[in-house]
Amino acid sequence: MIEEIDSDHARIIELINNLEMLVSTGSGSSPIMEILSTIIDEFEHHFENEACLMNSARYAHRDEHISIHGVLFDKLSRFVYLLETGDSGVDRLILEFLNSWINFHVVEYDKKLAQTLLRR
Ligand SMILES: [Fe+2]
Ligand SMILES: [Fe+2]
Repeated sequence: MIEEIDSDHARIIELINNLEMLVSTGSGSSPIMEILSTIIDEFEHHFENEACLMNSARYAHRDEHISIHGVLFDKLSRFVYLLETGDSGVDRLILEFLNSWINFHVVEYDKKLAQTLLRR
């Protein structure tokens, strides 16, 4: 359902805003790690939803779109590793990356998917 996609995005953006609050107040790595793993879980659930919709619509750009989701996971697991190894300043990089990724991806990829689904 397309409404679910929108509410997933809103939830993910809300979590990223919570992360921003933690980063700006200089929280330690453990609350940051906790919210990051919630963000990763939320993305997993959300990407499954999008993949289901793409499958049922026989969406032409499915493979490309799914591989872009995969690239995000690779990047996030790298960030988790850096966070665990105590790399200073990585929290800001994670935040910047997530903010720009979600904005770009929703506008460039999810919007096209939504338009295709609405046209059916
Ligand atoms: Fe999405
Ligand atoms: Fe997507």
